Amino acid sequence: MKIEHHNSQIDKTSSRKKDHIDLCVEENVTFREKTTRLERYELLHNALPELNLEDVDPSVPFLGKVCATPLIINSMTGGYDEAERINRELAEVCEETKIALGLGSQRQAIESDRFHESWRAARRAAPSIPMFGNIGAPEVAKGIATDKILELIDLIEADGFAIHLNALQELIQPEGEPRFRGVLNGIERLVRKLPVPLIVKEVGAGLSADVVRRLLDVGVRHIDISGAGGTSWSGVELLRSLDREINDPFWDWGIPTADALIAARPLCEENDALLIASGGIATSRDVPISIALGAHMVASARPMLKTLMEHGQRQLADFLQNWERHLRFTMFLVGATNIVSLRNASVREI
Ligand SMILES: Cc1cc2nc3c(=O)[nH]c(=O)nc-3n(C[C@H](O)[C@H](O)[C@H](O)COP(=O)(O)O)c2cc1C
Repeated sequence: MKIEHHNSQIDKTSSRKKDHIDLCVEENVTFREKTTRLERYELLHNALPELNLEDVDPSVPFLGKVCATPLIINSMTGGYDEAERINRELAEVCEETKIALGLGSQRQAIESDRFHESWRAARRAAPSIPMFGNIGAPEVAKGIATDKILELIDLIEADGFAIHLNALQELIQPEGEPRFRGVLNGIERLVRKLPVPLIVKEVGAGLSADVVRRLLDVGVRHIDISGAGGTSWSGVELLRSLDREINDPFWDWGIPTADALIAARPLCEENDALLIASGGIATSRDVPISIALGAHMVASARPMLKTLMEHGQRQLADFLQNWERHLRFTMFLVGATNIVSLRNASVREI
């Protein structure tokens, strides 16, 4: 694929966003050797569930609203011309299936108002679902003003706001900013000042127990461990970079999703924090397993994008409805009428 080169900062941010979408759709940018390790677990069959299938209710509260299932299409895009269509179409599917939507980094929206429609269109298409905005850790390290984030929240009438921790991506990205000093202080400031919940997420390299503890200590109560095993962001940036040889060993860097989830669970439970599983959530089976390993919500990014771009909105909605059916069937087979009891279902390592 052809990578175009641009001059102004605004054009650079927009063209990077476009490269990311193109590479994620056209190239194989998943981890090479490493998996999520979710495949190593299964739920224990319950031959006496003592409930009827119609008793099963997978709905959950999230960011002050209710989702029909504990699913999120995770943060991906915005800030260039085609992003408006992508966000609108993702949002329409989320509205139809009553699940949550994270939007992509809004850094470009701070630099210019040229593509504000690419984010606004999502909220117009999905007035009733939980939706959250997004900015990267480097902006937080630079001390982004709270007022700027309030503008980003207003742009999409956001129910929450996510900060992504992408140290690995910034390191490998040709124009990256591996400058993370001051991020935790910035998070602490924002978690106190924002009028909506602050979500802190990784982008596919996972949050360790120590990082989760430090986030909880500064008041964060929404955590997406976004672990390894799905999209490799060093892989994506390697394909954009000229320095492939030295950076190639980082393609598979990160904490597998299942390991990060298991480590984060007791910490989040002690602090009443909401735990999101993401990173390599690619099959319907990954959803109930992630919940039984401790997740309140489960998020998927690239598999959703690829389904939309290659097969269209109808297929994406069907795909999500299949995930819901699989979730309902699994809940029946473990005797769980709701997501709280699925979180406590027995899991065994296989
Ligand atoms: C095309 C694309 C763009 C992304 N852009 C962002 C972003 O702007 N902000 C963010 O927090 N995460 C971003 N992500 C990361 C995802 O939200 C997610 O954490 C990561 O891709 C792992 O999930 P997956 O294996 O389901 O793709 C992006 C992912 C994809 C596929």
